[in-house]
Amino acid sequence: MGASGSGKTSMRSLILYVAILILIQSALSSHVSSNNPASLTARLGATIDVEQNHVRFLGDLILNLWDCGGQDAFMDSYLTTQRNTIFSHVGVMIYVFDIESQGTNQDLEYYRECMEGLKQFSPNAAVFLLVHKMDLAREPKSEVFEKKKKELEEASGDGVVTVFGTSIYDESLYKAWSSIVHTLIPNAAVLSRHLTTFAAACSATEVILFERTTFLVIATSSPVAGPTLSPGKPTTPEQDALDRHELNPTRYERTSELIKAFKHSCSRVREEFHSFEMELYDFTAVLDEMTRNTYVLIIVHDPSIETAALKLNIRMARRKFE
Ligand code: GTP
Repeated sequence: MGASGSGKTSMRSLILYVAILILIQSALSSHVSSNNPASLTARLGATIDVEQNHVRFLGDLILNLWDCGGQDAFMDSYLTTQRNTIFSHVGVMIYVFDIESQGTNQDLEYYRECMEGLKQFSPNAAVFLLVHKMDLAREPKSEVFEKKKKELEEASGDGVVTVFGTSIYDESLYKAWSSIVHTLIPNAAVLSRHLTTFAAACSATEVILFERTTFLVIATSSPVAGPTLSPGKPTTPEQDALDRHELNPTRYERTSELIKAFKHSCSRVREEFHSFEMELYDFTAVLDEMTRNTYVLIIVHDPSIETAALKLNIRMARRKFE
């Protein structure tokens, strides 16, 4: 939910239908000057009433996504005649605020009323607030975001909310949506436990499971302390240094962006993307299909581990994860 023009349909298209957008872009490539799928969202029209999508996610999970058009007439109807339909059986409400919006008070008033509707019909729903179009925010952006976040938390009363700053032009949108989807996956903790076992079996620093079409992070292994990465091995100062490697906090978002761009390049030369492996001077990365709906990425800092062994481990673990 959120005001008209705040960017709901754009983000939905980019996150859930990135593959479709890319196809459209390929088809139009001779007419579209920009190479960025985000810029295609400028062509989207206003959403009329509610657009519902059922997205098959991780095989048996169906993500039922309602994109509620934000024009005032629609908002008024959601809060009155359609109140029961809109706010019942909600798992997560995502409310989008345009950081540049002029009609802030009206925006907050609708938001408060939506929170009341949610409290009445789906009291257990999680609430995510996206302070969107952060690329347009004035500098310093972090201050602008913190101010807006505080304002939204105050408007939320006693409701628990999670606030993200997002933009379709960088990885922030992906980070927020990974968090949102993660709360909807019933067995995320079990998956994470299995991935941690798998990471230990591969002597990996980290193992990450991505959803196939969106490349959102489903689960990751828990961090393993350095020396236990190679049990039984005497630790040398060089090995200690490798084990203490620092992991970049935006690594998931950036990896996802890179892989999506790579998949895009593959589709342009009519090749299908299946897997890749990379051996750099200080780490090895292997990405491969884990199940019908997921890809797994293994990161290893131990130079004695062969990529063939990692691929074999993936093959052997597939049945367990399917
Ligand atoms: P309704 O369907 O009327 O409720 O609007 P909406 O919230 O679905 O808005 P929509 O997704 O149609 O986006 C409106 C405009 O905002 C489009 O021109 C998008 O390109 C633009 N937009 C969306 N996200 C961003 C963003 O992160 N940054 C910038 N600069 N523009 C954005």
